[in-house]
Amino acid sequence: MVSVTLAPSGAVVEANEGETLLSVILKAIPGFNHKCDGKAQCGSCHISVLEGRKGVTKTTKEENSKLDELVGVGSKSRLACQSSILGTENVKVEILSFV
Ligand code: FES
Repeated sequence: MVSVTLAPSGAVVEANEGETLLSVILKAIPGFNHKCDGKAQCGSCHISVLEGRKGVTKTTKEENSKLDELVGVGSKSRLACQSSILGTENVKVEILSFV
């Protein structure tokens, strides 16, 4: 089990190996946007992984394709629904959407 810190609120959520960041974020922010329900089609779950990037799965081709279509994407951008916890280190993410 690792900890995921959510910025800017500073909330800390416990996460298990294999759990998606979307699932982790929803524990603390039930209204977090995830319009396509985790299918990498909407881009509404766009976040930044600020720390512990090696503690989540690598970006897939499908995820990269969707990120390419979004505005405001940076080197730390991920889709929360496509990023799973590896359980090797704690992670800090920035919530970019307004909820
Ligand atoms: S919930 Fe739609 S891309 Fe993640």
